[in-house]
Amino acid sequence: MTTLITGGAGYIGSITARAIRASGRAVVVLDTLENGHRKAVGDAPFVQADVADADAVRRTVEEHGVDEVVHFAAYKAVGESMENPGKYFANNVTGSQKLFEVLHTCGVERVVFSSTAAVYGTPSRVPVRETDAANCESVYAETKLMIEKTLGWYSRTTGMRSVCLRYFNAAGASDDATLGEDWRFSQNLVPHVMKAVLGRSPALKVFGNDWPTPDGTGVRDYIHVEDLATAHVAALDHLSSGGASVTCNVGTGQGTSVLEVIAATERIAGRKVPHEIVGRRAGDVSEVFADASLIRGLFGWEPRRHLDDIISSAYAWHSANPDGHPS
Ligand code: UD1
Repeated sequence: MTTLITGGAGYIGSITARAIRASGRAVVVLDTLENGHRKAVGDAPFVQADVADADAVRRTVEEHGVDEVVHFAAYKAVGESMENPGKYFANNVTGSQKLFEVLHTCGVERVVFSSTAAVYGTPSRVPVRETDAANCESVYAETKLMIEKTLGWYSRTTGMRSVCLRYFNAAGASDDATLGEDWRFSQNLVPHVMKAVLGRSPALKVFGNDWPTPDGTGVRDYIHVEDLATAHVAALDHLSSGGASVTCNVGTGQGTSVLEVIAATERIAGRKVPHEIVGRRAGDVSEVFADASLIRGLFGWEPRRHLDDIISSAYAWHSANPDGHPS
């Protein structure tokens, strides 16, 4: 069995590629390296190409005997997507459509797609369920929803089956701390906390302590990237054993506040996280966490790591790789 992993040189893609290999599958990684890192691919077979390059994708599928695909390749900066929507529609949506059409014509009928809980926007209730309305509040989120819908139509009209995984807040590094997030390209909380605790940035800005949450700071569902990786393996297993197309939340089901993330970091690092309370960030919401019962029930998947594992792996990774990329 060979799995094509688009975007497999990126943060979540590279850690998932390792988990897929560990499950006994052969892999081939396809990535432009625009935001990914060649070193993160290690000794896995690698093709430097865009998913929109139909010839390159077809060649890769044929040469490597690809049976199934995990599709990560996409732009993911929410702010940039609002400033340059065309870049996101072209790369994420059109690129994915081209990819799926080549897969379809090559007879590759199993796709796992990297989607996001951002499709829910400001949820009407927590925990958020898959059946709750999508309400995208950014171009980025809309592109992910459009790709989900495209896969839905392939599923209805062809033999293609897909699992769309809606990630909550992916965080942490690989268990061995050799792969992790490039903090130069991330606006997310954990890499910012790491920069602050490691003295690589001025004080962390905490965006508001007047939210209607227990300690007043924003609450999110932080899911360890290694647990996220095993969710993809479970999704591939589901499809290869004949499972139907489905869209699943991937989260722990537990909310954690910004101050709790800071406290865990201070405990694990043994030093203070310099931080200051500032105003709320535009577009932020108070509290988002998953109802993860669908993926637990359907795939038997369970997150095995906790907030401390997220923080200790991120701390080890960023301490060893202050330039952002694998050294
Ligand atoms: C953000 C994106 C979302 C994306 C997700 C995962 C926005 C509006 N949303 O969500 O679309 O799917 O990342 O990539 O950009 N915080 C601080 N200080 C910081 C950074 C964050 O206090 O320097 C707080 C935020 O206010 C929030 C929490 O930390 O309460 C988590 O923020 P973040 O990591 O950016 O994730 P989301 O806001 O959930």
